[in-house]
Amino acid sequence: MKRTLGVCYYPEHWPEAQWQEDAARMAALGLTWVRIGEFAWSRMEPTPGTYDWAWLDRAIETLGAAGLKVVLGTPTATPPRWMIDRHPDMLALDKDGKPRGFGSRRHYCFSHLGYRAECAKIVTAMAERYGKNPHVAAWQTDNEYACHATTLSYSKAATDGFRNWLAQKYQSPDALNRAWGNVFWSMEYADFNDIGLPNLTVTEPNPSHVMDFRRFASDEVVSFNRLQTEIIRRHSPAPIAHNYMGAVTEFDHFGTGADLDIASWDSYPLGFLSDRIPAPADHKLRFVRQGDPDFQAFHHDLYRAVGRGRWWIMEQQPGPVNWAPYNPDPLPGMARLWAWEAFAHGAEAVCYFRWRQAPFAQEQMHAGLLRPDSAPAQAFGEAMQVAGELAQMPDVGTASADVALIFDYASDWAWEIQPQGRSFSYFWLVFHIYKGLRRLGLNVDILPPDTGDLSAYKLVLAPGLFTLSDPLKAALAAHQGTAILGPRTNSKTANFSIPVPLPPNLAGLDAKVIRVESLPPDVPVPLAQGGALVHWREKLEGTADVTEVAEDGWPALVSAGRMNYLAGWPDDQALQRILHRACLAEGIESDPLPEGLRRRDTATHRFMFNYNSVPAEWGGVTIPPAGVHWTAL
Ligand code: GAL
Repeated sequence: MKRTLGVCYYPEHWPEAQWQEDAARMAALGLTWVRIGEFAWSRMEPTPGTYDWAWLDRAIETLGAAGLKVVLGTPTATPPRWMIDRHPDMLALDKDGKPRGFGSRRHYCFSHLGYRAECAKIVTAMAERYGKNPHVAAWQTDNEYACHATTLSYSKAATDGFRNWLAQKYQSPDALNRAWGNVFWSMEYADFNDIGLPNLTVTEPNPSHVMDFRRFASDEVVSFNRLQTEIIRRHSPAPIAHNYMGAVTEFDHFGTGADLDIASWDSYPLGFLSDRIPAPADHKLRFVRQGDPDFQAFHHDLYRAVGRGRWWIMEQQPGPVNWAPYNPDPLPGMARLWAWEAFAHGAEAVCYFRWRQAPFAQEQMHAGLLRPDSAPAQAFGEAMQVAGELAQMPDVGTASADVALIFDYASDWAWEIQPQGRSFSYFWLVFHIYKGLRRLGLNVDILPPDTGDLSAYKLVLAPGLFTLSDPLKAALAAHQGTAILGPRTNSKTANFSIPVPLPPNLAGLDAKVIRVESLPPDVPVPLAQGGALVHWREKLEGTADVTEVAEDGWPALVSAGRMNYLAGWPDDQALQRILHRACLAEGIESDPLPEGLRRRDTATHRFMFNYNSVPAEWGGVTIPPAGVHWTAL
């Protein structure tokens, strides 16, 4: 497969006279893809039912004539102002019941049927017009579902949809009352129409109620997306993608992924480090111009799973962004490193966001490949270098991994609903384990929670899964390698209660969690062999072998054969020891890498990425700051 580069472009932002030159420069730069259209609804349908396609026809023709392939985005993330007059109740309501108003983007409620009908209309019109256009080589649905916390809406439309969803799921209010345990605090319902959304309660709502609301809201995103894919497929043979956003887990991406051909994600490494990664200050300082060394790779591996092997970067940070608390300039070389790292993890394409910095509106401080005056910005030359390197390089393929890590969106909702301690987060627990694996230089495959076959993997990790699916249980029972589960794995029923027998309830492993405690940041539980459990620890009873023990005598890791259960959140030191031991047992090559240096093997090459701002030594080579080094395997 040929790996390719692209860029995000907004023809509607620029005078038409400029399009041709822009297109020629994109092609000369070595770009293959140009993504357009995803925010242009007010130009496509300036007044209700009146379409203006002429400008978009010409834009697509101009870009296509220059040899570029178009990714055409549906504009449903930005309904125009007239839409609000037609459907005043289409705006999502926040937790306090306040509308999330017009004037930016993503101002819609996924459950509003009138808005869905408007989306179906515009997507149909686009698909009919461009479905067979030879330049339209891929589609994108909407833009970053859930970004700006837009999955949950506490509107009338969501209430109606939720009641309907509950009635289908439980069939009778009695069944729902039993499943949720509504006898507690006299919360029993006599009618589905009495059930509200879990906001505006005096104190915390029932976690079972919230969990079902989260599942419902996720299903709404999946069906909203499916509405679009079904229409596009009727008219176009081109593959369909969606662009997901980093560390956004409000809906089940595996669910939307099943209806798409390609998963893609939007990678803003410096924005993420500044804005959403809960790392200590010295880590943020060390990687301030490079980004966290594992955050991108984690998402690459996640979206390779969501896309069932096919995935892209739809938006790649090119320079300073505008939206994080601090927006530093990337170290020269990072726009190249980030692209190569994506390719090494199997990306088919990497598209930079955006072509030219817009001098107006919300993102005027956001860099592009070009400055506002059209001169090349820093990333332009780096993109050119990557394009040249790609042209020289044989395809690197995608390597198989020895290690699998299970990721489950629903577990993230579950532990957000019931963290039990301020610092317990499923997402950051899984990321912490991933980081530990990467520090040992390992290739990792991320797998969905209903995985039914683990036979390709020597080592499987499943931290924090709130329930174990039946296929995963069967796969674990049949697995011939090492498995490490916990903490909190299998500790709830699907209805969100504590199961009896007590968790983790793993076949063959005699261990029961009899008590849990969450820990403030400065209260570690030291382990006898060094390191500690932090944030979370569990007390176990049973006869399983004790592999790690806390200084207070309670087991920290128990085992039966190659099945292990981890009774807490291990700190870096303990995690490294546990993972290293598992790798040794399974004959997996693992050597701790120097800080900031990361490795990824492909089918044909070993890549090293230096995320440091200083040179790194590895295997007799000096890799410069922001450097990428590859050798044939
Ligand atoms: C993404 C979004 C783009 C642009 C970009 C800026 O989240 O999809 O439209 O806003 O961020 O970094």
